[in-house]
Amino acid sequence: MKDVTKDTILVHAGRDPRNNHGIVNPPVYHCSTVLFPSLDALEESDRNMLTSVNYGRMGTPTTFAFEEAAAELEGGYKAVNTGSGLAAIAIALSAFTKAGDHVLITDSAYGPTRRFAKETLIPYGVEVEFYDPCIGAGISALLRPNTSVVFLESPGSLTFEVQDVPAIAAAAKTVGATVMIDNTWATPLFFRPFDHGVDLSIHAATKYMVGHADAMLGVVTCRDEESWTAVKKTATRFGVCGGPDDLYLGLRGLRTLSVRMRQHQESALALADWLAARPEVTRVLHPARPDFPGHELWKRDFTGSSGLFSVIVNQVPRKALAAMLDGMELFGMGYSWGGFESLILPTRPAAVRSATRWTDPGQVLRLHAGLESPDDLIRDLEAGFRRMAAAL
Ligand SMILES: Cc1ncc(COP(=O)(O)O)c(C=O)c1O
Repeated sequence: MKDVTKDTILVHAGRDPRNNHGIVNPPVYHCSTVLFPSLDALEESDRNMLTSVNYGRMGTPTTFAFEEAAAELEGGYKAVNTGSGLAAIAIALSAFTKAGDHVLITDSAYGPTRRFAKETLIPYGVEVEFYDPCIGAGISALLRPNTSVVFLESPGSLTFEVQDVPAIAAAAKTVGATVMIDNTWATPLFFRPFDHGVDLSIHAATKYMVGHADAMLGVVTCRDEESWTAVKKTATRFGVCGGPDDLYLGLRGLRTLSVRMRQHQESALALADWLAARPEVTRVLHPARPDFPGHELWKRDFTGSSGLFSVIVNQVPRKALAAMLDGMELFGMGYSWGGFESLILPTRPAAVRSATRWTDPGQVLRLHAGLESPDDLIRDLEAGFRRMAAAL
């Protein structure tokens, strides 16, 4: 589709009603075996294994529809789906590392990303180094001739440091490293990795793309054919693929991504404003707020903000924290985010850092603003603070 906005791409990408009896949505193919009518057809499919309908794991029209939509939305060459966001990260890292390589990973990365690097890449002979997310062009000092990957996550999904992606990507290119970013927070709507020098954009589609907390899915969108081939071949070797129903839910979620993101953004900002004025709150970690250290970079590179942010509250005894969290009526307590529902989660950034130190003594609470009325959410938080105070 040419000269259309992302809102329009979201509605039309990955569907072909004319070749599907006029039915608006593509069918869901449940598939392992694909039958070939002749030896010629079998051999032809094997020659084009990465792109043809060859075997269920390699991709079906359901797979290709989701991947096509994700790639078109992000402006990449093509995408590769995986069964979860973490699988997308693991496949992307594996595709571009071998024994003897040096890999740089932001200290603000999602915990299991760090764990994959430490517990899989290191034993396989890769040297892993974590770096300060705010390092910017200073990353040059850490780059080596054998640095094969620079991994970013911006903003970091617990503490929201905004990275200087163009500066880091430009430096990484001087040693030929592949630059990959976990772009889950911004979605393809609010940050365009390929405009900023990134080679691979990774999404936990489980979050905003699916949008309804009912499927696990990941996707790696690749800048060019070379990087796509490397990722696709790696996913194939690992036997990674999304399930048909989850892929369909991912594609269906994309149709409403834009309207949902507008509301997540607006509600999160309303909650952040209210929280910033509370006596219990010492800091609000939200890139779209002018008082946040990474705000200027966010303003330069992003076109919006999502529903996920953190606040730091004064440290209170565990029983007071439990009194607040256990009694929430609308905010659920649990992992993940990006669904229609609001979430609240106590986190401990200090425990997962190694290149930088997290020294703030307060309690970090990560919030996801769902699609409920912000006024109702504020009342839920207010009642929570009252329970916290009563338990002190
Ligand atoms: C920033 C980020 N990246 C990746 C993931 C992993 O996604 P999934 O849960 O689909 O494996 C998560 C999950 O919480 C996340 O927050």
